[in-house]
Amino acid sequence: MAQAREIFKTRLGFLLIAAGCAVGIGNVWRFPFIVGQYGGLYFVLMYLFFLLALGIPLLTVELAIGRASRASMAYCYEELEQKGSRWHINKWWQFSGNYFLMAFYVVVAGWMLYYFLSFAFGDIPQDITRDAAGADFGALLGDPVLMYTCVLATVIFSFAIVALGVIRGLERYTKPLMIVLIVLLAFMACRSVTLDGFADGMKFYLAPDFSKLENNFGEAVWAAMGQAFFTLSVGFGAIAIFGSYMSEKHKILNEAIFIATFDTIIAFLSGVVIFPACFTYGIEPDAGPNLLFITMTVVFSHMSFGNFWGALFFLFMVIAAVSTMIAVFESSIAGCMELLKWGRKKAVIINFFFIILICLIPLLGFNVLSWVQPLGEGSCTLDFFDFLVSNNIMPIGSMVLVLFVCAKNGMTFKRYIDECNVGKGFNMSYKLYGYYKYILTLIVAVVLAVGYYQIYMKLFG
Ligand code: TRP
Repeated sequence: MAQAREIFKTRLGFLLIAAGCAVGIGNVWRFPFIVGQYGGLYFVLMYLFFLLALGIPLLTVELAIGRASRASMAYCYEELEQKGSRWHINKWWQFSGNYFLMAFYVVVAGWMLYYFLSFAFGDIPQDITRDAAGADFGALLGDPVLMYTCVLATVIFSFAIVALGVIRGLERYTKPLMIVLIVLLAFMACRSVTLDGFADGMKFYLAPDFSKLENNFGEAVWAAMGQAFFTLSVGFGAIAIFGSYMSEKHKILNEAIFIATFDTIIAFLSGVVIFPACFTYGIEPDAGPNLLFITMTVVFSHMSFGNFWGALFFLFMVIAAVSTMIAVFESSIAGCMELLKWGRKKAVIINFFFIILICLIPLLGFNVLSWVQPLGEGSCTLDFFDFLVSNNIMPIGSMVLVLFVCAKNGMTFKRYIDECNVGKGFNMSYKLYGYYKYILTLIVAVVLAVGYYQIYMKLFG
């Protein structure tokens, strides 16, 4: 396609935006609680293994596809596949991942905004009990209008930035947002070290506990791999789109290593902020949504200057979530612009309305639609969207992308490696072919199968 495509002006801009896409709810909330749940250090090691073995290669695949095609998911297959092949059929379901993800992601972002505002305005009473905090969160979930208002605020903000374009919008605003995010986190992590519960909190977070792993080893491996995918945002072209705006000055492996390292540091430090605070006030950390919205609320309400720390903490969460939303909206908007030849404005408006409509399904799942329990007793519509994206579209999409770069009628492995090696930095070798084609895909397939088996047992076992 002939195009006057925008290219990021600075390398830092590209790196921080791609990192902003990766760093999100998965880092600041999912990572800490699953580490605590599955045995601390052992789980972290498993996670790091998947990050190196699968995550970084997958990032290079997406970036290379984006940079070589200079197109979004809408046309990247067509640009790179050999004549007559049908790889491009995959784009349809992969592209839909953007929407399924955002449908529930914006709801969680809305909760974060609600808690940020509650702390900022001093609405959370001091020394609140766990039951009262639980009741508050329950009240929020039971109030669709309040929830929708918060969700709308985050969505409007994100779309406003995307509407300005790649350089004037994304590059200009995401870069400072990410810098604020790092500063906030560093500040809170330093403060965490000075808390009385620091040692106990770190022990809970990281001390190797084989017993937690022993009973459900399969589940832990599955969770570790799922997290490695989820946190890096791979599988449906959200990273590829930034590859398509990237310059040719640096080799792709370097950029992938930066993104993965940055992402991991943020995830790790989030745990350093969360767990010591819990132990300082003698509050047992929960798993799941409760960890943020109930446990942490109780913790901050007990701190001196709790409103200040609570507001900072949830502001940090909001920025992490919003930077991801901006990235994913960009991916869907660029896709619509290319596919349907829409202008940016039109694509922004239509996507905006579409998102605020579909997010109602997960949002109403907590109140009006609470009788819909798609994944068994007690599950909600949000769980189902999460399952669809995290356990299906992301891993299967990633596998398809890997097979695509390996295939002779796809991008071909030679072209993929050649694309990775343009610019300055670390080279990748053609010898990786066997690893990609057989080992990488096999690992994903096995872990996927384990995941389905577990869900099956939960539902019918
Ligand atoms: N990585 C994001 C996070 O950690 C979430 C995410 C998952 C995502 N899959 C994605 C973002 C695909 C963009 C595209 O919160």
